[in-house]
Amino acid sequence: MAEEAILGYLEKNEEISDSGKFAEEKGISHDEIVNVIKSLNGFRLVDAEDIKRERWGLTKEGDKYAGAGSPEVQLFLAIPPEGITREELQKKLDPSIFKIGCQQAIKNKWIEMGKSQVSRKVQHVDDRVRDLLMQIQNGEAVNAEDVDALKRRKLITPLIWKGYSVKKGPKYAPKRKKVATDLTRENLLRGDWRELEFKEYNFLAKGQPTEGGCLHPLLKVRRQMQMIFLQMGFEEMPTNNFVESSFWNFDALFQPQQHPARDSHDTFFLKEPSTTKMLPEDYVERVKGVHESGGYGSRGYGYEWKREEANKNLLRTHTTAVSSRMLYALAQDFAPKKYYSIDRVFRNEAVDRTHLAEFHQIEGLICDRGLTLGHLIGVLQDFFSRLGMSKLKFKPAYNPYTEPSMEIFSYHEGLEKWVEIGNSGMFRPEMLLPMGLPQDVQVIAWGLSLERPTMILYGIDNIRDLFGHKVDLGLIKRNPLCRIGL
Ligand code: PHE
Repeated sequence: MAEEAILGYLEKNEEISDSGKFAEEKGISHDEIVNVIKSLNGFRLVDAEDIKRERWGLTKEGDKYAGAGSPEVQLFLAIPPEGITREELQKKLDPSIFKIGCQQAIKNKWIEMGKSQVSRKVQHVDDRVRDLLMQIQNGEAVNAEDVDALKRRKLITPLIWKGYSVKKGPKYAPKRKKVATDLTRENLLRGDWRELEFKEYNFLAKGQPTEGGCLHPLLKVRRQMQMIFLQMGFEEMPTNNFVESSFWNFDALFQPQQHPARDSHDTFFLKEPSTTKMLPEDYVERVKGVHESGGYGSRGYGYEWKREEANKNLLRTHTTAVSSRMLYALAQDFAPKKYYSIDRVFRNEAVDRTHLAEFHQIEGLICDRGLTLGHLIGVLQDFFSRLGMSKLKFKPAYNPYTEPSMEIFSYHEGLEKWVEIGNSGMFRPEMLLPMGLPQDVQVIAWGLSLERPTMILYGIDNIRDLFGHKVDLGLIKRNPLCRIGL
């Protein structure tokens, strides 16, 4: 309707000089007219030019007075001809009306304020302010002096009105031709494709945002780690058992049963099923022996080893539990191996910006004859350089199952400091020999979390922003497809 009105009007007239007036004449809302003008202008059917007009509109306060009358008149009318006490008058009126009303009425010399008594000085008043406000509301002209006064009282405010003047455009037609967007089977059958006018391609149109799946940063870094291990000739260990027995998680690793990590404050134990059903009995005997009295050149821990403690099921606290199973299996028919795993581990820990109760560990180990600490350092250099961390430092550390043990630090160019990135060591004979591995076989191993390097690589400083129920899905969608450099 609006479109017909505009195009039809321009067929007989030079221009629509004011879209506002035009809308009023045609009884169409100005918003609708404006929308149609914009569309016609876009297709060059018309040439539209902006018109901006400033006019006055009522403020909230002005609007109130246009309805209920100005404060001074409200005040005046509240004063009976015989006068009233100040307190009485105050009670009858809204505090702001009273205050403003007094000021204005005194200024207008309408009332007299005695010490306690308020009385009228004139018999009758007109509400000019209200009349002016109503005129402005109706778009009627008001003289400059009055406008000024109302403006100073903040009862009116300039409103910017926007509209258009419109002329025929280069592609003007009294009716907009419907252009076809698709060539259909029907068009071909009917043969009307010959007459059809097709819509031009808009090469500047923005594409639809893609709603494809996105990879989580942890998955991307995991893939990178996997590729490094595979390039270095490592095989992946099966890590599909989150539930593990204390035996494989701790005892097989020569971790004494009184060790604080085995406390329920640090480890999640299972209620159901609370114990494991099967352990290799002869090996269990050898583990018991090495804990209690040593052997293989060791003195052991000298305590009474309890089977019940080893039977307890838990959520594995490290993937080294998987390594111990793999090494035991390997010991039954030894061949040199390089193994890795990347999977989830669980610790009963207070969650904070660097700790989660559930996270991922990366673990690598090499089993061969004649391995030394030098081999371990060399492999770590190789492994971490491939991740872009080539400046490494090692610090002596302690693990129940490795000797020597080393913490691994890497110099972070962005943070300009050394950050701890992992832990490593050579598995102890007390762990390897009871498994049945040949005497001259050494195992060098290292472990790190997947979260730590991911946080460094993606500049995330709170682990809860990376993993867990508080992760912002937007972060996963927004992070770039590939990272360049560190
Ligand atoms: N299991 C150790 C940890 O949880 C990491 C590690 C793996 C240390 C292998 C030495 C050798 O931190």
